Order: sequence, then structure tokens, then C-alpha cells
Amino acid sequence: MKQTFPRDFLFGAATSAYQIEGATELDGRGLSIWDTFAATAGTIVDRSDGRRACEHYRLWREDVDLMRWLGLRAYRFSVAWPRVLPSGSGAVNVRGLDFYERLVDALLAADIEPFLTLYHWDLPQALQDRGGWGARDTAAAFVEYSDVVSRRLGDRVRNWITHNEPWCIAMHGHVHGEHAPGERDWLLGLHAAHHVLLSHGWAVPVLRQNSPGSQVGITLNLTYCEPASDREADLDACRAKDGTYNRWYLDPLYGRGYPSDVVADHIARGTLADEQLPFVRDGDLTAIAVATDLLGVNYYTRDLVEADARGQPGSAAPRNEVTDIGWEVHAEGLSTLLLRLQAQYAPARMYITENGAAYHNAPDDSGRIRDGERERYLHAHLEATLAACRAGACVQGYFVWSLLDNFEWALGYTQRFGIVWVDYETQERVPKESAHWYRELIRERALP
Ligand code: FCB
Repeated sequence: MKQTFPRDFLFGAATSAYQIEGATELDGRGLSIWDTFAATAGTIVDRSDGRRACEHYRLWREDVDLMRWLGLRAYRFSVAWPRVLPSGSGAVNVRGLDFYERLVDALLAADIEPFLTLYHWDLPQALQDRGGWGARDTAAAFVEYSDVVSRRLGDRVRNWITHNEPWCIAMHGHVHGEHAPGERDWLLGLHAAHHVLLSHGWAVPVLRQNSPGSQVGITLNLTYCEPASDREADLDACRAKDGTYNRWYLDPLYGRGYPSDVVADHIARGTLADEQLPFVRDGDLTAIAVATDLLGVNYYTRDLVEADARGQPGSAAPRNEVTDIGWEVHAEGLSTLLLRLQAQYAPARMYITENGAAYHNAPDDSGRIRDGERERYLHAHLEATLAACRAGACVQGYFVWSLLDNFEWALGYTQRFGIVWVDYETQERVPKESAHWYRELIRERALP
């Protein structure tokens, strides 16, 4: 059978503000927690930061031209909260809004559908100073921010994503200490997760009001968990991991509250005293379960789960090839995951809001960047997406992570996820072979 995508399937690419914009001190932008975190010794492997990144804030026109050349039908980007509200709430920095308005207008002129993510991890430092996501007030500040952005852009942006990957915000930022703000406290992580979800629930009606007829939703990083063996301990570790990665977010968003088996794990671990979740107030779960129009799915790899020596959930060694970042390539996991989401949560529609691979390939003597591994990775995952669609999963689009090589958080510039190469010295952009391949695919609407 020819591998053709439905006529209205959206092919896109994704980026996020802190990872590409640079210009962190320009035009009234306030400090974000990533500026602070990256300036702290020992946080970023190559001691880099986002001060320059891809200089997209300066080169955005060129980048839109690249998207146009690629034939992208959609572009997912994020707005930097501290550009719009430098102190997190209160005074609006109009120059920040102007930047995103120019970008959105240029995208629309190029016939590229903007998918705007409000929060991709760059919390204003001023809010962190008042408790960050650990504090309930931050959820209210997020609603204010969502209101400001959607009042300005709501007539043009038709696709709104409140948050990118609440699990990463809560866990990497507050439990593992690997991301800003660098905390290591399980209970704080649970508070953060709840306040992020709550802020989503509160913001959705505001976005709908300011942008009538648009699609509103949230993006989750969903990990396909598979037990490494059929040993009882591995099966239970897999249940627990699926619980903390996936169900802790999906269940409340789809009206089921927090999963009781994971609550029991927290009680056993001593994170929680009993079933009473100290951060949940009356009405919260109803707010979080607000109906949405889309679920964004970020998928990269599978987690082959096994119980470690202490019986805690850990990961077994990958059984397939891994990308440069060490993540196993496992495209079937994506189909399985999408079909499970369809069967168990029935989202109104889904988009793959991120999928891609880190490979280093640099330009060769002729200037070409031969990244066949990336092409194979994308091919396999698009095939898996199509297979899931044919089996009934309502996936309506796919965004490659990423349009450009960029600042990969704690891994700095050591990982290259772009389909377009970036020379960080000269800021030259060179489409890799995978970009040419993707362009062809978009033109044909079929897998080559
Ligand atoms: C996701 C993030 C994105 C990028 C990719 C590789 O977790 O949303 O910003 O870092 O991983």
C-alpha cells in the first residue's frame, strides 16, 4: 500500500523560545529561571547558555524563509513569558508582544499555521523568587500571562498549547535537579506538577474566550514503558513508571483524578503521609479536567523498565540502536502509545508535537550534511504514526523536533536535533539531507 497521509494532515517543525531566540537582554526581556540556572556552575555540560543560541530573535525572517522553503504547513514555537511580562505579572512589555506578532503575521503570510506554546520552561525569575511552580500563585500568574498573549494574538493564532511537558517541569526541575530551577524534592515536584496542571485548567477558558473557534490543549511527554522481562518485580516497576510518567498527567486531565496506585507508591516512599494530597483544593480536579481540543504528544524513545536491586523502578539497557543522546530508537512504541491514548483517553484529536533524533553529522567537504540516520528515524516514526492513524488513532499532524540545531538544556550545544544545521559562530543555517527529504515528503504527502 502507498504510504500516503490524509489531505489535511499537517506537517510541521517545532522549536522553543529559550532554545533558539538568544537576545536574552534585549528589548526589555526579564530574567528567566534558565538564565539563572545556566549561570550556575555545574548545571550545563558545556558551560553554555541561551544568551546567543540561534539568534532567532534577530534572524527570524530568515528562519521563516527556511520554513517556507521546506513547505511546512505548521510551525510550533513558544512565547518567552519574561519577554511579555518581565516580572512575571503586572507590567506588560509591549516590545515582547510585538516580536511574536511580527512572527505570527509572517507565518500566516507564508501559509504556515502557527501552533503557539505558552510555557516551554522559561519561567520569569521574579516568579521563581516568589516560590515558582511550587506556589499556587504561579498558576494565577500563568492565567494572566495567557490572557495578555491571547488578547493580542487570539484573532490570528488558531492553535494554543498551554504547557510543554509538565513531567519534565515537575521532575527534571524539582525532583532530579537537572533543569531549572534545579530543586531536588519529591513533594515539591508534586506541588509543581499540580500547579502546572491547574494553571492549564484555568487558562483554557480564557484562551477560548480570547480566541474563539481556536483549538486549545496541552503537550505531554509520553514515554512508552515496557517491562524488561515478565518477572513480577519488572511488571510492577513498569506499572509504577507508567504511572509517574504518563498517568499522573493523563488521568487528571481526562477527569479521573490522580491515579491511586501512584499515590500509594508515594505513601510507601514517604513522599505523602496519606491519601490526602496536600496541594489539591476543592474544585481543582474539575478545573484540570476541562475539555480540550487537542493533545500534543512528544515521543522520542521507549523505556525498558526493570526493578533495580532495591526493587525501585529503573531502566534496562536499550535493545536497539541508540541516538547520540543515548535514547533507544523504537518507533513501534509510538504506534502502541497512540492507540492506547485513543482507546483509554479518547482525546478530541492528537498531534505529534515533537519527535526527532540527535545526531552530530557536520558538513562534509562538499558542504553536504549526510544525516541518513535521522532520515531513517523520522521515516520509521512517520510510518508508525500513519499505522496508528489507520488503526483508528485521531492524529492530525506531526512536528519534527527540531527545525534548527539548538540549546539542548542541560546538554548545552552538545546535541544536535535540527533538520537544519546551525553554525553557532557565524549563525549560518544549512539544511541537512533530512531537511531535503522532509521537504520531498511534504510535497508528496507520502513517505518516499
Ligand atoms: C523535549 C523538550 C524539547 C527538547 C527535546 C529534545 O523534552 O520538550 O525542548 O529538548 O526534548
